[in-house]
Amino acid sequence: GIDVSALLKETGFVTLDQGFVNTASTTSAITYIDGDAGILRYRGFPIEQLAEKSTFLEVSYLLMHDALPTPTQLKDFADKIRVHTLLQEEMRSFFSGFPRDAHPMAVLSSAVTALSTFYQDSLDPLDEEQVEISGIRLMAKLPTIAAYAYKKSIGHPLPYPDNSLDYVENFLRMTFGLPTVQYDVDPKVAKILDMLFILHADHEQNCSTSTVRLVGSAQANLFASVAAGVNALSGPLHGGANAAVLEMLEQIRKDGGDVNSFVTRVKNKEKGVKLMGFGHRVYKNYDPRAAIVKKAAQEMLNTLDKPDPLLDLAFQLEEIALHDDYFVSRKLYPNVDFYTGLIYKAMGFPTKMFTVLFALGRLPGWIAQWSEMMLDPATKIGRPRQLYTGFTEREFVAIDKR
Ligand code: ACO
Repeated sequence: GIDVSALLKETGFVTLDQGFVNTASTTSAITYIDGDAGILRYRGFPIEQLAEKSTFLEVSYLLMHDALPTPTQLKDFADKIRVHTLLQEEMRSFFSGFPRDAHPMAVLSSAVTALSTFYQDSLDPLDEEQVEISGIRLMAKLPTIAAYAYKKSIGHPLPYPDNSLDYVENFLRMTFGLPTVQYDVDPKVAKILDMLFILHADHEQNCSTSTVRLVGSAQANLFASVAAGVNALSGPLHGGANAAVLEMLEQIRKDGGDVNSFVTRVKNKEKGVKLMGFGHRVYKNYDPRAAIVKKAAQEMLNTLDKPDPLLDLAFQLEEIALHDDYFVSRKLYPNVDFYTGLIYKAMGFPTKMFTVLFALGRLPGWIAQWSEMMLDPATKIGRPRQLYTGFTEREFVAIDKR
């Protein structure tokens, strides 16, 4: 019932664009998306080529440095990360303070915030050397923190990183290994997880990245900005969707596996019922990442002795949605999260950890976007305007007269 045009007249020339549907908040040279054609490129390289031929650390370097690394540059980058994977002992003790059933995303964001208490020598957002070392520290320590959040939740001791392993193998060993048992990382699992991290590494001005930029625009340090991004990512409409998809599939299975009746509830817009893992603000075509993940899910689940019945439910849902007018007319296609949860589950991760895995993948994008903003002389503090809809001036009434 609000007369927006009257408000605009009163306020002057202000753009009202709730949710930034059509407003660019920045220029950026990092990631290109053509949502109608289903195209995604990092620094000009198609996501399909990177997913097939590259590694997560190489893509991280590319995002942060605007060029593919030479072998020496990549080794140097990986070595720098390798020597920073440990957490300070005081920091390890934080994990015993959280309740065991704490959500690992909350533990992750708290621990990232805490990094700025330990690394006060690298907090100046305008000092390029300090920013570089903060970025390396984040890349190195986030997998350790993520593994500890998981270990805490199951009451296991916290392991130390094994820096003879590569990035993803080290994370998998810290997550699933035990001090008393030999644990060999399955290279096939490590390869798929590395590829999933590549697919999540950047996605231009999504909610968490815009949050990282907004917080950074106030010249808050990189740790503080990334912690804010982790919190934004935790929401079920963003990174939390990968966990929500699995919960949805499990619920459908518990209710007897009737996919059609679930789709009817979605189409009737029952409160809180959405087809999770479907739809995207920018993609109005098949999300190119979802196509890659779907293939990986098929491969991963086919290698298991007992295939997951939830995969079949997911296929059925997609098949119905791709031919149903409700979804077709709204251009709703599977997004990157529709199939990732099934892979994470097959790897042994509990649902609560899924969004943490997304955060591990998105980290280099957050760092690259934050740094791009800091280096841009045109950057200003992010400070949106509003259209005021409240009372006009009112006279204060003393409490005994109300
Ligand atoms: N299920 C059912 N209907 C949907 C869905 C869905 N998943 N997504 C959008 N719609 C409908 C809306 O109800 C709306 O219908 P209407 O025109 O009749 O009102 C129409 O499609 C347009 O949707 P909006 O909500 O306006 O689209 P918006 O761009 O604001 O939202 C979002 C995008 C948040 C991703 C939405 O599609 C959604 O909630 N999807 C489910 C959650 C999800 O998978 N999130 C992950 C996003 S990708 C990522 O972060 C990795």
